[in-house]
Amino acid sequence: MPFPTHRSRRLRKNSAILRMVEETSLSVNDLIYPLFVCEGKDVKTEISSMPGIFRFSLDRMILDVQEAADLGIPAVILFGIPDKKDAVGSEAYNPDGIVQRAVREIKAAIPEMIVITDVCIDEYTDHGHCGLVEDGKILNDATLELLAKMAQTHAQAGADIVAPSDMMDGRVGAIRKALDQSGFNETLILAYSAKYASAYYGPFREAADSSPKFGDRSTYQMDPANSDEAIREVLQDIEEGADMVMVKPALAYLDIIYRVRQEINVPLAAYNVSGEYSLIVAASQNGWVDRERIIMETLLSIRRAGAKMILTYFAKEAAEILARRQGK
Ligand code: PBG
Repeated sequence: MPFPTHRSRRLRKNSAILRMVEETSLSVNDLIYPLFVCEGKDVKTEISSMPGIFRFSLDRMILDVQEAADLGIPAVILFGIPDKKDAVGSEAYNPDGIVQRAVREIKAAIPEMIVITDVCIDEYTDHGHCGLVEDGKILNDATLELLAKMAQTHAQAGADIVAPSDMMDGRVGAIRKALDQSGFNETLILAYSAKYASAYYGPFREAADSSPKFGDRSTYQMDPANSDEAIREVLQDIEEGADMVMVKPALAYLDIIYRVRQEINVPLAAYNVSGEYSLIVAASQNGWVDRERIIMETLLSIRRAGAKMILTYFAKEAAEILARRQGK
């Protein structure tokens, strides 16, 4: 309809009207806070490629999780950094492994905090791959057993949600079956369904010391060129028993988030990954962008594309900003 009958700027007249017609909003309820846990006591080591993000020993971790809880963040996701790595990732499914102990501590101290665990052996293998390796090949079916065991030990420790991130075929089904057989039919599965082979994971691999020692992850993680395939991956994971699905990374894949939202209506998460975090932090440290505005605009873009849950290293900072804005 033509100007001057219609003037779009009337809807932008002041902040009250802007609030009334706002189509998308970001809430603290949407945020999931990732944490790196390691052995030792009183350890809080900043990850050099991710300023503001730390590796915590359990005693220090619990303080950080308490801060997240105080800010109203509903969930954390845990990544373990074990002292020992081997070819089969034994520490990944050790019932007393670092993540299993972290889960127990959080559930004992802060029972209302939803604890999600990353189910993948790459942080625990000496070769750095997400599956067992034979003759330079990443084995699929043999890896499933380990993932199922790993998920069971997480559930046993009290994890509310297990999140397989390895991209082996059939892992959601294998994990669902193992959980149900061991009495954990209430444990949810958040599947990293559309996880791309991305350079945006660079800083995480430094944080978790999990870079592959040979080759890359392109035989299991998705090709960034593909979009239809993401839909097939999501459908397959839902069929195998996923309660929630994830697209990862988020920003270079907003179109994938949008498609999954439009075509498949299930609870959808997106991972605002380490590289996305570090790019923003680096640019804002240089004074090239406004840190607060760019964080909120970025998280809002992920919500607008269609993800409900956002895994982000900015979770605590965003929660603080939201609380401050609400107080105004
Ligand atoms: C695999 C895993 C990765 C991330 C989460 N789980 C990295 C990978 O595939 O190498 C990346 C998260 C991030 O970059 O923030 N266990």
